[in-house]
Amino acid sequence: MNRVLVLSGPNLGRLGVREPEIYGHDTYDDLVAAVTAWGTDLGLGAEARQTDDEATLVAWLHEAVDQGVDVVLNPAAFTHYSYALRDAAAQIVDAGRRLIEVHLSNPHTREAFRHRSTISGVATGVIAGFGMDSYRLALVALATAA
Ligand code: DQA
Repeated sequence: MNRVLVLSGPNLGRLGVREPEIYGHDTYDDLVAAVTAWGTDLGLGAEARQTDDEATLVAWLHEAVDQGVDVVLNPAAFTHYSYALRDAAAQIVDAGRRLIEVHLSNPHTREAFRHRSTISGVATGVIAGFGMDSYRLALVALATAA
């Protein structure tokens, strides 16, 4: 079974209570349950993790490189300014694995500072704007093109 790390960045642990008009009413625990179930259905071992800490996300990306696993990454606000995360993400594709950048909302329809992603230029693909389904679509892409 192909392993996939499904990583979510800062404030995504607050899903359900944080700006529900943008991010919906489902909680982070709901997201983990959905990701785990979708992974099982697709024959992927999907492991969901969330942190508010940039260094932890970088360490998890290094782990993915060293263990040769694909990554679904919602970098949250780090998307827009973290070069450390970009450099770590670049190593995934360099190592022959895939990295899909996901967002619940479509950042391009929102404030100007959200229009720029440090990650997109090194990602295998980007899926944004479908709520929790963005994660499902990323897993489908990984399972289909495996
Ligand atoms: C987000 C979009 C980002 O701009 C924002 O900082 C987030 C969540 C999304 O999933 O829509 O925290 O990545």
